[in-house]
Amino acid sequence: MSVVKINVLTVPAEQRETLEQRFASRAGAVESSDGFEWFELLRPVEGTDQYLVYTRWRDEASFQAWMEGPMKASHQGQADGGDRPKPASSSAAVWTFEVVQQAAPKSE
Ligand code: HEM
Repeated sequence: MSVVKINVLTVPAEQRETLEQRFASRAGAVESSDGFEWFELLRPVEGTDQYLVYTRWRDEASFQAWMEGPMKASHQGQADGGDRPKPASSSAAVWTFEVVQQAAPKSE
C-alpha cells in the first residue's frame, strides 16, 4: 500500500496568505513525479494552527527519489537564506504514515 508524507508547517497568522500564494504559484510542481499519487495543502480551521502538506506516494522509494531530485529544485532557497524571500513558515517537520486501509466513493 501507499505511503503518506505530511510536511507540518508552523505559519504565523500574518504569513498565511503569503504561504498559500506561494503554494498556488507552484501548482504542478509535483504531479509528474514517478510514484506520486496525491497532494493537498490543508489550512487549519480548528484544533491546530499548523498547515499540513499532505502527499501520498506509491512507495518510500518514489518519495525519496522526488526529495533527491524535483523537490530540491522546487524548494530552492527556503533553507539557505541568501537573497531569496524569507520562508512564510517558521518551522517544518515531516510525518510518515503507511496506508492501512482506504475507500473511495463507488462509481455508478
Ligand atoms: C512531504 C513532502 C514535502 C516536504 C518534505 C517539503 C518540505 C518543505 C519544507 C521543509 C518547507 C519549509 C521551508 C522553510 O521553512 O525553510 C516547505 C515549504 C514549501 N513547500 Fe514543501 N515540501 C513538501 C511538499 C511540497 C509540495 C508537494 C509542494 C508543491 C506543490 C511544496 C511547495 C512548497 C512551498 C510553496 C513552500 C512555502 C515556502 C514558504 O514558507 O514560503 N512542498 N516545504
